[in-house]
Amino acid sequence: MSALPLIIDTDTASDDAVALLLAAAGGHARVHAVTTVAGNVPLDLATRNALISLEMAGAADVPVHPGCERPMLRSPSHAQHVHGEDGMGDLGLPAPRSSPGTRHAVEVLLSEAGRFPGRFTLVTLGPLTNLAAALLQDRDLLTRYRHVYCMAGAADARGNVSATAEFNVWADPEAARVVLSAATPGKMTWIGWDASRQDAVMTTGDQLHLERLGTPMATFAHRVNRTVAVWAREVTGLDGYDLPDPLAMAVALRPDLVVEREVARVDIAVGEEARGQMLVDRRRGATAEPNVTLVRRVDTAGFKKMLFDTCARTVQPVRTEEPA
Ligand code: BDR
Ligand code: CA
Repeated sequence: MSALPLIIDTDTASDDAVALLLAAAGGHARVHAVTTVAGNVPLDLATRNALISLEMAGAADVPVHPGCERPMLRSPSHAQHVHGEDGMGDLGLPAPRSSPGTRHAVEVLLSEAGRFPGRFTLVTLGPLTNLAAALLQDRDLLTRYRHVYCMAGAADARGNVSATAEFNVWADPEAARVVLSAATPGKMTWIGWDASRQDAVMTTGDQLHLERLGTPMATFAHRVNRTVAVWAREVTGLDGYDLPDPLAMAVALRPDLVVEREVARVDIAVGEEARGQMLVDRRRGATAEPNVTLVRRVDTAGFKKMLFDTCARTVQPVRTEEPA
């Protein structure tokens, strides 16, 4: 199996952290760079959490470049009531030993794809602000990536931040529109909260299994999601907490895990009433061509096996500290 060259754009909080473990320690990919964006948490916390997660995965050499600290037009909105004040379950994790990179995320997204056209797969796990800002400078940027996978949207219009919208799109809907306006289904795939809610739910049994693995990565993955677990129980009505970003990462690493997909023409509502809602046009013969592939169902067992197999590994961690 050859390792997939990856760039990851993330607003790192607890489920992004698990996605970073899958990418950096799962053996399927070689992470070239991580870029951060404001979203679940403010930018400085997202960057800190990405550094911590990469250290946990034994990948402290991967550079982390901070990007946009606010959405294109809107005021910043975070989700610390879901992921904890620090975004990592408020465990009091020690500061990372490594420091952020000095380049701006948008410059990294542009220049690395420009230097090696077609080499990198890009996975976005947060609001699409960095990618949209890059597209404003290079309209053809998506063609320079092998493929772009985004944890974004809710194709069934069942939202997690409003009645109909998913957080990453809702937080910066204008950025999502810019990205979709440049997309084609052959280059861009969205894995939404609808798939996560159905196929990436960590039941009580799964949570116990993760905890009992007892490796540093499994303990970390279990504990950083403790505030999400509470929120999920109280708000979503699911049988546990779901892992949207790890699911998107799993699809990027193993597209064969996709069970159901569709291509569609998608736009995003930007009016206040339906802010961030996906507008999916499935009409045949509609004038606008499809612009994105939507993953609707994923092999749950295959996803969880990847998660457990990765967390069961012992890497050479830079971090030896147990969470407090
Ligand atoms: C998205 O928002 C955050 O809660 C997760 O990290 C994911 O990227 C899900 O709506
Ligand atoms: Ca995220």
